[in-house]
Amino acid sequence: MSATSSVEFSGQVVVISGAATGIGKSSAQLIAARGAKIIALDFNKSALDELAKELNLAANQVHICDISDQGQINKTIATILKDHGTIDALINTAGIVGPSNTQFEDVNWPDFEKVLQVNLYGAIWLTQAVIPSMKAKKYGRIVHLASIAGKEGNPGLSPYNTSKAGMIGFVKGVAKEFAPHGVIINSLAPAVISTPMNANTSDETLKYMISRIPMGRVGQPEEVAEIVAFMASKACSFTTGFTFDASGGRATY
Ligand SMILES: NC(=O)c1ccc[n+]([C@@H]2O[C@H](COP(=O)([O-])OP(=O)(O)OC[C@H]3O[C@@H](n4cnc5c(N)ncnc54)[C@H](O)[C@@H]3O)[C@@H](O)[C@H]2O)c1
Repeated sequence: MSATSSVEFSGQVVVISGAATGIGKSSAQLIAARGAKIIALDFNKSALDELAKELNLAANQVHICDISDQGQINKTIATILKDHGTIDALINTAGIVGPSNTQFEDVNWPDFEKVLQVNLYGAIWLTQAVIPSMKAKKYGRIVHLASIAGKEGNPGLSPYNTSKAGMIGFVKGVAKEFAPHGVIINSLAPAVISTPMNANTSDETLKYMISRIPMGRVGQPEEVAEIVAFMASKACSFTTGFTFDASGGRATY
């Protein structure tokens, strides 16, 4: 990266949900290395502590927050704004797979609803919480981790497909509302990425998903973090409401 690249973050406050592991952690590592003050949110305390140690984060840069709880989100964002004065970018990577390799007719509603609460309502509530301050200063970047599942639908993953398709639709419309106010909102749709999330995905589902990827392999979280960093930076200045791709060629749209 050249010294003049605008994919750098000096002086910026970047909030990352789901920062403790996987794509969130790789994004935190990369964006911290590019000069941001990272604020890490997750409900996995031990993994969050490890990240805080690695990146030398102060206590007020680390928040235990369950994004399926609107009250916790509002309290956390208010505390961050009080402590750090601003939020330049929000990167929402917190998410769960929920029931996998499960036919729709066998999914019970509480399990379905839980996936919506984390992946979709969490994204909506985080966006609602950060928008007013971004709008007031006429600058903000919001990045939501969607999925190829939200574009194409994977069999046996109906709650996850629904949550990510909902997120993509949410981003499309809300981005247009805030486009005149300097707040840029996009999502990113990866195919299978090698992270702890896939530890519980059935072999059958994983095999199916890799078979659909022309590159014939899973992606690495560091590869996704490079795109996330661009999306969260000043360099991403004329694209909003879009769903970026990280699918090894599976999606070419
Ligand atoms: N790994 C993949 O194959 C893949 C593919 C497409 C999209 N995604 C999406 O990318 C995002 C990141 O996934 P990942 O692969 O890094 O998974 P991951 O499981 O490694 O990371 C997700 C993080 O979110 C946290 N989290 C989960 N529920 C939470 C909640 N209610 N409140 C706060 N934190 C919570 C977890 O503790 C974890 O640290 C997710 O939204 C996922 O749906 C992942």
